[in-house]
Amino acid sequence: MSQRFITLEGGEGAGKSTSLAFIRDYFAARGLPLVVTREPGGTPLAEQVRELLLQKREEAVAPDAELLLVFAARAQHLAGVIMPALERGEWVLCDRFTDATYAYQGGGRGLSRQRIAELEAMVQGRLRPGLTLLLDLPVAQGLARAGARAEMDRFESEQEEFFERVRATYRERAAAEPERFRVIDASRSIAGVHASLRVALDAWLEAVS
Ligand code: TMP
Repeated sequence: MSQRFITLEGGEGAGKSTSLAFIRDYFAARGLPLVVTREPGGTPLAEQVRELLLQKREEAVAPDAELLLVFAARAQHLAGVIMPALERGEWVLCDRFTDATYAYQGGGRGLSRQRIAELEAMVQGRLRPGLTLLLDLPVAQGLARAGARAEMDRFESEQEEFFERVRATYRERAAAEPERFRVIDASRSIAGVHASLRVALDAWLEAVS
């Protein structure tokens, strides 16, 4: 576990972008060096893998192929961005990480937790985020927000039941690891969400400094 490694998770339309901007400002205001990055992606190769994952295609994508692509991107991202930043003593804020794999490939696609855990151990060794901020809101509300945006990618095109399983898995993981997760009620106004993020970050900085 790395205390300086923070991840942001949530379903579609949970408001991750505005939350990322808020956290970026929060760290900047305190003069703390923060690398903001995302998954899948974060390096040129990993961003190409992201394109492969998100593109809608005629060919059905085998769940194991999807899982391996996610972890291939993650291995590259860890080697090229996340580990070097942590080794420099900087903070890392990652927009999605392995909890998303448990939620989407596990909950959504039905792959076993054990299969994912094996790849997690292989690719990450013992690295886990210190703090995970989960933006949680009812699926219908998230999809209504996301639907108001541009064209939908391969994941966004899934059925509502898929996202119900994604949400349930995120919540189960949060309940199982309360010391790492902070569940933020994202159904509220942006100001309310930001206030909760501030409380969570204040407490975390206090605890680890
Ligand atoms: P984003 O829209 O939040 O940038 O995420 C891109 C999509 O990738 C999103 O629909 C969730 C999906 N995803 C997975 O399926 N597994 C993963 O491990 C990650 C990191 C993302």
